Parts: sequence; C-alpha cells; structure tokens
Amino acid sequence: MCGIVGYTGADTAKSILTDGLKRLEYRGYDSAGVALERMGDAGSCELDVVRRTGKVAGLESELVARDDASTCGIGHTRWATHGRPTQANAHPHVSCDHRIAVVHNGIIENFAELRVELEERGHRFASETDTEVFAHLIEEAYAREHDLMAAVRAACTRVVGAYGIAVVCADEPGVIAVARKDSPIVVGRGERGSYVASDVIALIDATRDVVVLEDGQFARLSPDGIEYTDAEGACIEPEVTHIDWDIDTAEKGGYPDFMLKEIYEQPRVVRDTLVGRLSPSGELDIDELGLSFEELDLIDRVYVIACGTSYHAGLIAKNLIEGWARIPCEVEAASEFRYRNPIITPSTLVVAVSQSGETADTLAAIRDARIKGAKVFGITNVVGSPVARESDGVIYTKANKEIAVASTKSFIGQVVSLTLLAMLLGQVKGRLTTRQVRMLFHELGDTAAQIQWILDTQVEAVHKAALACRDAHSALFVGRGMGAAISCEGALKLKEVSYLHAEAYAAGEMKHGPIALIDPGFPVIAVTTKSPTYDKVVSNLKECEARGAMIVAIATAGDEDIRAIADHVIYIPPVRDAFSAITATVPLQLLARDVAVLRRCDVDQPRNLAKSVTVE
Ligand code: AGP
Repeated sequence: MCGIVGYTGADTAKSILTDGLKRLEYRGYDSAGVALERMGDAGSCELDVVRRTGKVAGLESELVARDDASTCGIGHTRWATHGRPTQANAHPHVSCDHRIAVVHNGIIENFAELRVELEERGHRFASETDTEVFAHLIEEAYAREHDLMAAVRAACTRVVGAYGIAVVCADEPGVIAVARKDSPIVVGRGERGSYVASDVIALIDATRDVVVLEDGQFARLSPDGIEYTDAEGACIEPEVTHIDWDIDTAEKGGYPDFMLKEIYEQPRVVRDTLVGRLSPSGELDIDELGLSFEELDLIDRVYVIACGTSYHAGLIAKNLIEGWARIPCEVEAASEFRYRNPIITPSTLVVAVSQSGETADTLAAIRDARIKGAKVFGITNVVGSPVARESDGVIYTKANKEIAVASTKSFIGQVVSLTLLAMLLGQVKGRLTTRQVRMLFHELGDTAAQIQWILDTQVEAVHKAALACRDAHSALFVGRGMGAAISCEGALKLKEVSYLHAEAYAAGEMKHGPIALIDPGFPVIAVTTKSPTYDKVVSNLKECEARGAMIVAIATAGDEDIRAIADHVIYIPPVRDAFSAITATVPLQLLARDVAVLRRCDVDQPRNLAKSVTVE
C-alpha cells in the first residue's frame, strides 16, 4: 500500500513525480504529496513540501502555480494505516528543521516507542503517522554523520517493521537516499536522470532496465548515477532486471476504465500463460516448480494460501487438485493460516497465490509454512516480488501489469496456472495419463476463444441484467461445486466495485437460512452451467423463483430451459466443468463493472481499497 516516487536529473521534477504518482495511485489514494528541492535567494537549497488529501489530481492542480525549476524531488500517494487520511498525515514528512523529507511505504511497528524517545529529546511531531519517526531519526543521525546515506543507514537500524523509503536533504541537493525492507522498491537510470518508485510502472517511460532493491540494500541517486550499498555501507552490484512488457499496459487504450480493458485482455492471458508449457513430447513443462517428479510424488497434502480474489482461485484449484491428483487440498485465507497451527510435514506443499506478490498476510504465511518445513510454491504476477523470492519455486501468471484495483485478468492467469499445477500433480500421482494431460491442455487453451465469444456476444445480456441489479440493496450469488467457488468471486467483484452488498452461498445451503432474504425482486445470480449438479442448482433456483427472486443465470449456450425460471440469462460456451471457472467468471466480472458504472462508482479505484495490501 502507498506508492513512492523520486527523481533527480536534468528535467523538471514536478511533472515526473505527479505522472509517476498517477500510475501508482492503484496502491492508495487517500492523499498525495511531494517534496521538491528549490534553490533559495541566498543560493541555499530549501524543501518545498506540498500535500493534499484525496487523489493525485488535486495535488497536481495545486502544483500548477509552482514553477518548473526544481529538478529533484520525492512524492507519495497514501493508503492510510497509522493516522487518518488528513493533510497533516499526508507524506512527505519532514524533520524539525525542515531540511529532511521522507516518503515511506510500509509499517513501522515500534513507532510509538521511538516517538516517545524522540519527543523526550525535543523533537516536535506534526502528524499521527508512524513514518514521521523516520524524518526525526534521520535528522538526529545527520547531525552526527553529516552524510545522508550514513544517516539513513543509522536510522534504519532503529526501526522495526517494513519500509521502502526515499529521502531528500536540503543540505545535499540532488541526492535521494533509498532504503528497503519488506516493501518493494525499484530504482532505474534513464538518459535524463535517476528514478526510484514502488513499482516499475512509474519509471518504465525512462528505462526498462531496473534494479529491484533487496532487503537491507541502499541506493544513492544523483543526477549523474546510482550507487548501491549494503547495510554497512560497502558498495554492491545488484542484479539488473529487464522489463519486457509493453507500456500500453499502463494506458487505457481507448477503454473507459482499466477494469474493462483488463477483462478484455483475458483471452491473451490464457494464451500467454500456456505458452511453452507443453513439450513436443506432450509432457507438461513447469520447470520453475523447483521440485523433481520424485519429490512431487511424495506430496500428500496441499494448502493453497491467499487472500481475496487469489483465495477464490484457490477454491477452484481445490476442486482440480483433489479431483485429478486425489491429494487432500485445503484453501485458507493467509490471514488465518498463520494463527492456526496447521498440520505441516515435509511432504506438505504450500501454494501461495498473490497477484501483487507483496500481500503481507500471504508473505507472513509463507514464512510460517517454511519454518514448519513445508515446500512453498508461489503463483504471482510480479517478477521478483517478495512472494516469488521467498518461495522454493514460482509460476508467473502472464497477466502483465494489472492496474484496476479489482482483479480480473490476474485471477484468470492464476486459475490457468493452478490448473496446470493440478494436471501435473495428477500426472505424477499416476491418476492422469500423458494422453489425458495433452487433451486437457488443449481444452484449457480453448478457453481463450471461449472467453472471446462471451466478450463478443454477451455484453448486451450482461447490461440488461446489470440494469435489473442497479437499484438493489443486496444480492446473492449461488452455485454448486465449481459454481459455488465462481460465485464467491462474482460476489466479491460486485461488492468491491459497486458497493452493493453481495454474498456467495452454496446453492444447496440456501434453504438452511439465506432463502429468508428473498422477497420479490431480490437478485439471485446463479451459476447454472451444464455440470454434474445442474439439476440440483435448477431445483434450488426454483425455490428462489417461487419466492419472487429476480434470477440472473450464467448458463451454457443452448440451454433454453433455463429461461423458464431465469429473468436474465447470460451464456457461456459449453466447457468441461473443470474449466468452467475460466469462462463463467467473465460475465460476473462484466456484470459487476456494469452495475458499478450504472451506480456511478469509481470502477478502477473503489473507496477504501488499495491494490497491494502490505499491512496485516
Ligand atoms: C481483488 O479484486 C481484490 N482487490 C483483493 O481481494 C485482492 O485479490 C487481495 O488483496 C489479494 O491480493 P494479491 O493477489 O495481490 O495477494
């Protein structure tokens, strides 16, 4: 959560910072701010700190009146953790003498003790944030060291928690000090200067060769270059990562919002995620697993740990892993897993699923699982992310950068990746033959065209259903088996983008309580695809229909009977039940987005949310 940027070079810093912050806004949008270095009349440097509540656009308007002279600065977009989303709590935070400014992403766990200690020594705090202790600690250390990098290193030794920070000091104009622990930081050198950001998306216009800073590494940015050091101040040469995805990803490309654009990218995501996964001899190829076939064969229990939408991808995987490999598979919210003392042995495989690769709960669960002796396998969308680095093996979903806060295409990438994993486990356990795997693989590939068919033909039907849901106060999503798991994702999507309360329920459980909610017009969105439980779901729907529910059915093309009970039908092409999540989720994504647009919600940046949840 929170995004930081920094620039020092030959160009105007102001616009580079605000452009970068806009690209990082998915990380939080409670407030935004910058600290720009300016040369005063006497030739000395001063820090001009401008902060505003709300989105970056407000800050940008404020900065219009400022001249373009500054060529060095840092910026921040905030998702409030410690302290309300007020202007006083907006970053950057400054030292008492106003010579040092800090932007921070992360949580400082011992900030309360540090604050008391610093106040006792005379420091005055202007905010309720944890971050401000950094500004005062660096101020004290700078008075001793007279060197910004040394002062930042010293301050970091006092802090417990997670941080990615960028610091400027009016006494060292043109220098930005950067440090990282458990919070993402990328640094890059462009033709016109040096850049830092929480995410490569903010600096990809300037360079495609970036350094993803490791924990305990520091960077000193100046207009002439970047120096990297370790915690002792010794020079290091970090690995350079080349970014190969296209900048188009960061633009809406003619779509009204990123969510819609990303939904339409899903056929490509399926295809890209499968590229190179089947060898010419028909074997599945998941080298990155980091486990030999012999080791995989010993696995007798799988946990999928994840949060939110990624957790729902896990629910789909459970059906597949248990169905094809006959290995017991549990799916757990990462935030619960670590507090529950789960049964883990050396033959347990923990699969951690995270789009961002930096979700705090998922990371904490990975660490816990490793300590207990499990092999951990990560599925993430972000190359070099903490989840990737802390897992024994990793599959990268090929969604490319996902910008809308509501996950869509990354979910599809996760489900496809988990499907491959389930097929591999099935093969290793001798439950699936090579021939069956090859057939499944090709059918999995076909889902790309099936998604395209939905996007090409069902948008109007979705829109009619959305109109019918627009003024509801609540909605139920129901299904059985795969349909129940898909319903969970449908309900989450609707909640987060349209603010309409929604709940997912296994259709057979309706009569045990939730059916009491149904009154005339109550929306029930049902996954009624042709599956082994189709008839049962239809019976459950009839019970809802009898009580006046307004039924939206996600049904298999050709199923005309469903029209007898459903007010609205959205079709998906016929598909094997195992792959139905990949297609049936798409109309639910479209529906949620459509309802949100009709309700005039901010589709890409729903209130109170941030894309990367780096707090526990
Ligand atoms: C998805 O639409 C949500 N914004 C959210 O539930 C998300 O899936 C969750 O925070 C997990 O994020 P991750 O995949 O980056 O770990």
